[in-house]
Amino acid sequence: MDKLAIVGGTPLKGEIAISGAKNAALPILCASLLTAEPLEISRLPNLNDIATLLKLLEQMGVRVSKTGQARQPGEGDTAVLDASGLHYPVAPYDLVKTMRASVLTLGPLLARYGEARVSLPGGCAIGARPVDQHVKGLQAMGAEITVEQGYIHARANRLKGARICTDIVTVTGTENLIMAATLAQGETIIENAAREPEVVDLAHCLNRMGARVSGAGSDVVRIEGVRKLHAAQHRVMPDRVETGTYLCAAAATGGSVRLTQTSAACLDAVIDKLLDAGCEMSLERDAITLTAPPRLKAVNLRTAPYPAFPTDMQAQFMAINCLAEGTATIRETIFENRFMHVAELQRLGADIQVDGNHAIVRGVPALKGAPVMATDLRASASLVIAALAAQGETRIDRIYHLDRGYEHMEEKLTRLGASAHRTA
Ligand code: UD1
Repeated sequence: MDKLAIVGGTPLKGEIAISGAKNAALPILCASLLTAEPLEISRLPNLNDIATLLKLLEQMGVRVSKTGQARQPGEGDTAVLDASGLHYPVAPYDLVKTMRASVLTLGPLLARYGEARVSLPGGCAIGARPVDQHVKGLQAMGAEITVEQGYIHARANRLKGARICTDIVTVTGTENLIMAATLAQGETIIENAAREPEVVDLAHCLNRMGARVSGAGSDVVRIEGVRKLHAAQHRVMPDRVETGTYLCAAAATGGSVRLTQTSAACLDAVIDKLLDAGCEMSLERDAITLTAPPRLKAVNLRTAPYPAFPTDMQAQFMAINCLAEGTATIRETIFENRFMHVAELQRLGADIQVDGNHAIVRGVPALKGAPVMATDLRASASLVIAALAAQGETRIDRIYHLDRGYEHMEEKLTRLGASAHRTA
């Protein structure tokens, strides 16, 4: 299993391009199931989660042709997905268990094919992560759903528009229901919808395909169902979590970086915290520059659905707080069991106490390199940040978690002057 060896202590400096957003690309790839005409998607990040989903879609009968390979970092691949031969509406356990986002095939399959068998998801080990809201919404649209032997089995002749109010804010749940509603008969209204920018990017793509989605980005999304969707082209938005992760890496090492091909527009909560921590930031239309102070100040945070502070950045901010001046309280309100990085950060010398869903981080003057283990995608990112700021070498085991969500991470870190090498 690959490991990442990082020798810390060098302030990150320089410029890198940010890649397309994993969490936008995944639902958009699933949107290809909604039409028999080709969907061309550009700026697809080269990630294991994307490869897994493409494999799943191919098994269902989607023809995938890669028409463009990235010529420069951040540009991503271009693929054309043609679901005219869709014939096997099944997402099997062996693929779904490695990536929960496979559940995003449920809504589109049901809407266009009238049937879907999707394994209950696995993915990051960060809590129970049920899909009851996806099921409840589809049932409200007239689907018959049973759960047998670990599979969700859904059938419908043609889905019918409905008013759905989700009990909690769910990102992939909102995306699944929007996709299902595009081909339903009549209007669907989703209340308490997730407002995440990736939902908006999906809605843009769907509208280019002929769907009638309005209100994405607010908590009420309306979808006027149409008979058919058609061919379209879409370019995936920049990855806001990757952007935030490199900003934290620069902040933790006392560095100065410029991130290009990104957008500050979706990152207000993260940028505010970095400013509170004492960083200087300059925001351009598609670039962000951060210059860190010699020592950061501790920042409290509480995760919540967008536009509040994202749970996907909690672990990275835990890492920067480990070395900051003062004490920070971090509250995780989205997922239970999302503090698995704590034990690993403690191995590097961090002073963290966990009590239920909150952690108290007392900044220490220095961290020291040690062997650690990646436990989930964003937890791995926090270990990379801590390792970059620590004295000496840290070996991070199980970095397949990082490969799920960070494109060319070692190359990008090396470009910023870090010592980061993949080893067997
Ligand atoms: C998405 C993101 C993930 C991010 C998360 C929260 C993708 C591919 N993944 O995951 O990176 O961390 O949003 O911003 O976009 N829940 C239920 N019932 C449901 C659905 C969700 O109880 O039917 C709960 C979950 O267990 C969790 C909370 O709702 O506690 C939010 O989960 P959700 O927004 O659905 O996360 P994902 O869409 O899986």
